[in-house]
Amino acid sequence: MQSVTEILSAAVERALGAPALLRPCANPQFGDYQANGVMAVAKQTKQNPRTLAEKIVSQLSLDNVCEPPTVAGAGFINFTLRGEFVGAQVTAAARDDRHGVPVAMKPKTVVVDYCGVNVAKPMHIGHIRSTIIGDCLARVLRFQGHRVITDNHIGDWGTQFGMLLLGWKRNRNDDAIHADPIAELLRLYKLINEREELRAEAKAELVKLQQGDPENLAIWRKFIELSESEFTKIYDRLGVRFDHTLGESFYNPMLPGVVAELRQRGIATESDGAICVFVAGSKAPLIIQKADGAFLYGTTDLATLKYRLDQWHPDEVIYVTDGRQQLHFQQVFAVARQWFQPIPDLRHVWFGTILGEDGKPLKTRSGDLIKLEDLLNEAEERALAVVNAKNPELPEETRKQIARAVGIGAVKYADLSQSRTTDYIFSWDKMLAMNGNTAPYMQYAYVRVQSIFRKADVGRVTSRGDGGPAASGDAAYNIILAHPSELDLAKQILRFTETLQAVADDDKPNWLTAYLYDLAGKFSAFYDNCPVIQSAEPTRSSRLQLCRLTADIMKRGLNLLGIDVIEQM
Ligand code: ARG
Repeated sequence: MQSVTEILSAAVERALGAPALLRPCANPQFGDYQANGVMAVAKQTKQNPRTLAEKIVSQLSLDNVCEPPTVAGAGFINFTLRGEFVGAQVTAAARDDRHGVPVAMKPKTVVVDYCGVNVAKPMHIGHIRSTIIGDCLARVLRFQGHRVITDNHIGDWGTQFGMLLLGWKRNRNDDAIHADPIAELLRLYKLINEREELRAEAKAELVKLQQGDPENLAIWRKFIELSESEFTKIYDRLGVRFDHTLGESFYNPMLPGVVAELRQRGIATESDGAICVFVAGSKAPLIIQKADGAFLYGTTDLATLKYRLDQWHPDEVIYVTDGRQQLHFQQVFAVARQWFQPIPDLRHVWFGTILGEDGKPLKTRSGDLIKLEDLLNEAEERALAVVNAKNPELPEETRKQIARAVGIGAVKYADLSQSRTTDYIFSWDKMLAMNGNTAPYMQYAYVRVQSIFRKADVGRVTSRGDGGPAASGDAAYNIILAHPSELDLAKQILRFTETLQAVADDDKPNWLTAYLYDLAGKFSAFYDNCPVIQSAEPTRSSRLQLCRLTADIMKRGLNLLGIDVIEQM
């Protein structure tokens, strides 16, 4: 079905001959949506914007959709949707298993590069934001009907492997490897790294690896295998999966070719023995090969991009990493723009730091980075304590299952509800609170809506005894929006489509969390004001369908955030 914003945008665009720039009205007093596109056209064609806006309004035929549009301020056009139209749209959404969200007419191919953990190092909370945000963006784009290719660009190549190889050969403790492989690998790395006198030997191991020495290659493969099986446990707990895991090592054989091609095209030049690309407007050049012949992170990223373009022909490539890599990606993108024609839309989706209560980057009490695994364990334990206190009568397995969904959900939601680029303070109490914009609140809101259907079902059996209309409402009835809070809820339901588009446009999952929070609020107001089960038909079925649609969108929305719903709490 066509969404509200599509209908309004298309009408304005037809009259204006330019983008409508439709936005929800900041103040509902002025209407539901406003079109901002007139001003730009007026400026370009040297017309009075208000006069132009009046002219556009007179050409619109939207009588079935909205009240007569009004012109405001410097030349905005405001639209207030008509109740009958909202009713018809929301009825169609209730009949649609996509809740009215259209499938993209022109599906794009989008590569999402996220997580990017490093082999033989613990996955820390710095990677959690990448994994959670990247997974959410991939889910939203997929649901919109795009072809999404997820790729985990793991750090599985580099100088650290010289030290790891040496440590493995000299100091390995097999029991420790068995018990906690990544911790043991980290210990070995630190052990060698601390000892200056072993540098040359570590370097020699690295050179052997790079030259394809079978023994070192086999050990290196073991490092990857051990690390990946640990990472997989975490991916499973988080419910993330990748289409590809093409790490840095995969591109290693391509690096000399990348450098040669960039030199040949005159994009890269030699400077002090190193091969560099000077990027206009950037403070430093991007070094792609050091004087000693070594390649760098950026060289690998250029090879990676070339491979992705050849392989998948993407329209967009999204990289999700922390904000400290901004310069890196600016440089890589700038080089890529000189190299490839045409070039897909390259976006660095960066995020801020997770801070402790003291306002400094979150660390353990001993000052180490917090391991993701420990964090998830604690989340589940804390959630379990809450469930145990609230619902001691539930079977243990059920309580654990709830705690898993709530604990992991809380961590994800706390992250996704932040404006991506700001740092935020990690607080267990806040993220596990039953009130406010949190996962438990949203999960509970879903449970509450669901409970209406159980009651409706009971009501059906006891009051009629003959089956009667279905617990979810008889779909033969259309949704009627009589009460203002009913209309309000329906309008919010219809905003799901544009919210997902905003998430995709800005790479910002927090538009979706804010939407769901508002949806829960509007539902509460509706439920307080509008009796559902006690109402007579056709109101009962109409309202039950609104409840059904709300629950479905909550479930879908949480699912797009990577969060599970539960049926009781
Ligand atoms: N391994 C990197 C890190 O831990 C992240 C990789 C991000 N992706 C990329 N194509 N550079 O910081």
